[in-house]
Amino acid sequence: MQIVNNIAVLKLLVRQARSNGQSIGFVPTMGYLHEGHLQLVRQAALENELVVMSIFVNPLQFGPSEDFEKYPRNEAADIEMAANAGCHIVFIPTSKEMYPKGFDSYVDVQGITTTLCGAARPGHFRGVATVVMKLFNLVAPTRAYFGQKDAQQALVIQKMANDLNMDLEIVVVPTVREPDGLAMSSRNAYLSADERKSAAILYQSLTAAKAKIMQGLNDPKQIVALIKSMIQSEPLAVVEYVEVVSADDLKEFEQELQSRVLIALAVRFGKTRLIDNMIIDLEA
Ligand code: PAJ
Repeated sequence: MQIVNNIAVLKLLVRQARSNGQSIGFVPTMGYLHEGHLQLVRQAALENELVVMSIFVNPLQFGPSEDFEKYPRNEAADIEMAANAGCHIVFIPTSKEMYPKGFDSYVDVQGITTTLCGAARPGHFRGVATVVMKLFNLVAPTRAYFGQKDAQQALVIQKMANDLNMDLEIVVVPTVREPDGLAMSSRNAYLSADERKSAAILYQSLTAAKAKIMQGLNDPKQIVALIKSMIQSEPLAVVEYVEVVSADDLKEFEQELQSRVLIALAVRFGKTRLIDNMIIDLEA
């Protein structure tokens, strides 16, 4: 596996691969890799001849009071895990390489960025869309891989790619979970032992809600109330939002659930903010 820190070198390698007719699978990450990230790499390796991963803790997507400085980092472990999962090139730029002095252009996807995580984290998706657009331009991928864990992010990127006529396929990979159901996340490392135990309630509440929907419950308000009451039974959990919306455009249902339903939540355990979600296809 090649480790590249420099944009010019990355572009050269990508150009060579393209001129050899190779397909390129791209997995953007912020590092501190876990099985969720590696699943994206493995799928990219199955579907493409060359696999490129980026590791970059993007300052643009963190708010002023968020965890940019203390976001977990372990470059040596990441490099080994990425190589073992089938990655060929890992791009690890500095902030200066990505945002040199005078950088002043941003990608602003509107509409779907104002709800859910976008409401709680103003500017977050502008930071995500901008860095992903830059990375897409650098890597020129055939396919780019995103996790269902960040459902809204995957929709924002898909919308950006559609709206701006980008020539690539966005692939969304199912959420990888710990044995007790907690969605894998680099931020799980922040949890104390007690918080980690309590955090299993997130997946439990999503699963319970799904069961109720399958039994015929179709009032979004009742579903939200059910999930909130389950989560609030854990004293360490503080709910930021629980929403039941259309999985296609994040719009609220007028009365009854329809077609593809996204249940999305963000919950704090101490200083750690965790998100999770589930999609229920009523037509399937
Ligand atoms: P990061 O949180 O490192 O996640 C990188 C990719 O891994 C994202 O597409 C995310 O959805 C996916 N992922 C994380 N946990 C997962 C899990 N448990 N199962 C499946 N996929 C999982 O998301 C970002 O970084 C950044 O916003 C980024 C897109 C890199 C832009 O900076």
